[in-house]
Amino acid sequence: MNSLEKFPEKFITDLKTIINPRDFITDEEQINPRLTDWVGYADGKSSLMLTPRNTQEVSSILKLCNNYKIPIVPQGGNTGSVAGAIPNGEIILNMTKMNSIREINPKDYTVTVDAGCILEKVHELAIKSNRFFPLSIGSQGTCTIGGNISTNAGGISVLKYGNMRDLVLGLEVVLPNGEIWNGLRRLRKDNTGYALKHIFMGAEGTLGIITGACLRLFPEIREKTTAFASLRDLDSCIELLELLRSEAGDSLSSYELIPGIGLGIAITYGDKIIEPLSKRYEWNVIIEFSGTKNDGDTKLNLENALNKAIENGIILDATIANSLKQAASIWKIRKAIVEYQPRLGGEIKHDVAVPISNVPEFIKEANDAVRKVIPHIRPVAYGHIGDGNVHYNVCPPLQYDNIKFKEKTEEIHKVVYDVAFKFGGSFAAEHGVGVVKKNEMIRYKSDTEINLMRLIKLSIDQNQIMNPGKLFDN
Ligand code: FAD
Ligand code: LAC
Ligand code: ZN
Repeated sequence: MNSLEKFPEKFITDLKTIINPRDFITDEEQINPRLTDWVGYADGKSSLMLTPRNTQEVSSILKLCNNYKIPIVPQGGNTGSVAGAIPNGEIILNMTKMNSIREINPKDYTVTVDAGCILEKVHELAIKSNRFFPLSIGSQGTCTIGGNISTNAGGISVLKYGNMRDLVLGLEVVLPNGEIWNGLRRLRKDNTGYALKHIFMGAEGTLGIITGACLRLFPEIREKTTAFASLRDLDSCIELLELLRSEAGDSLSSYELIPGIGLGIAITYGDKIIEPLSKRYEWNVIIEFSGTKNDGDTKLNLENALNKAIENGIILDATIANSLKQAASIWKIRKAIVEYQPRLGGEIKHDVAVPISNVPEFIKEANDAVRKVIPHIRPVAYGHIGDGNVHYNVCPPLQYDNIKFKEKTEEIHKVVYDVAFKFGGSFAAEHGVGVVKKNEMIRYKSDTEINLMRLIKLSIDQNQIMNPGKLFDN
């Protein structure tokens, strides 16, 4: 059967008048890489991928799809972690060819870009104008601004600069009926009714296509100092955070938890990663101070703070990077945990948030809870604890049967999310809901909240063509 036969003939003919043939893609070789996600949660299907080049094309495509009630799945770099951009037979609307910088205004500390712009390109552009764009995530060489906004991405700088939501001043959005909303304002203050931009942020492509965004820039970072410190125990991660904040205030730009088991994974499987301290400890943190002056202050402040922490018995040992190379080598540990954790026989992943002060209790209680399900299970709890976000991933006990482990996935999810919920936490801190966490939406959100979301969805997308089956079932 012709791969396009399921679509009305007239729809396809009209589509071909809107979009250039090279952007109307049916070639499996080009589509296939777009059907799987990197976490391995989903194997999608689609026979057609559209790669529009400008907002007008997006608008015409949506108008046509809406008329025919033909659903689409928005896609950026396809680096999402919850299968939100994976089609289940729908047309893929891939935004990566809309990747221009529209305008940079250094005096306003703003940059306006197409939604398909790669995050790293925005970093580079900001630096060229002596500015700084702070969103920092492991996928930054591939993910797009539109994807970052649609997932409200977080990463390692949230404790200082906030989530993606906090970095967006204005948006341009194509609504499901093809109408273009130009909300590309460069304003810091604009109290003119409902904050519509926020409805589209974190919406995971279920309300419209983000085609452009005006982003906040910050003064250029001219100095960074990175350290690796071993904690007295898990509780002391909060004591150390308090100390660093009181000593250095806003200089603290990253504070990431590294468990001993995670360090072990990085050293064993990573590429020439050096053990940062002479001994391996159960709990550690990577700390980064950054500043806009190049006067050695970040290093001095971090040294002083860590000396205090050693005197107070909060940390046991620490090393401060003396060069960019050493700093990169510390950060390599963090990246390697994400990449190589599956080598411990697979992993069951959780991206939870709790109030910052509850992070240690959350980890301890979650450990107890998962051990009741599978004795000797190996939790690898790491991540952005400076903002209360724990990547609480668990690996099977040594020599544990892989199929038996996978069968426990739902049970493990439930006990972990129950503990997070008990602390007033979230089952989806920064990666979103997508397809993977739809059950949790029902389990942990009130009917009032879900009903409000459904009302918003239906008032904007009456024909439910936007990313069906994501967030909740239609
Ligand atoms: P995609 O994966 O293509 O799409 C994500 C969602 O957004 C989908 O629902 C899609 O339909 C929708 N979407 C995409 N573009 C648009 C658009 N223009 N309009 C409307 N909807 C759209 N995430 C973090 O938050 N913090 C991290 O620290 C982090 N680290 C990561 C590290 C690695 C190695 C990897 C692979 C991923 C990591 N992620 C992290 C997850 C991921 O990179 C982010 O969620 C990112 O924001 C997704 O961007 P994307 O362009 O790849 O979006
Ligand atoms: C990270 C991704 C997994 O923090 O969110 O590395
Ligand atoms: Zn993360």
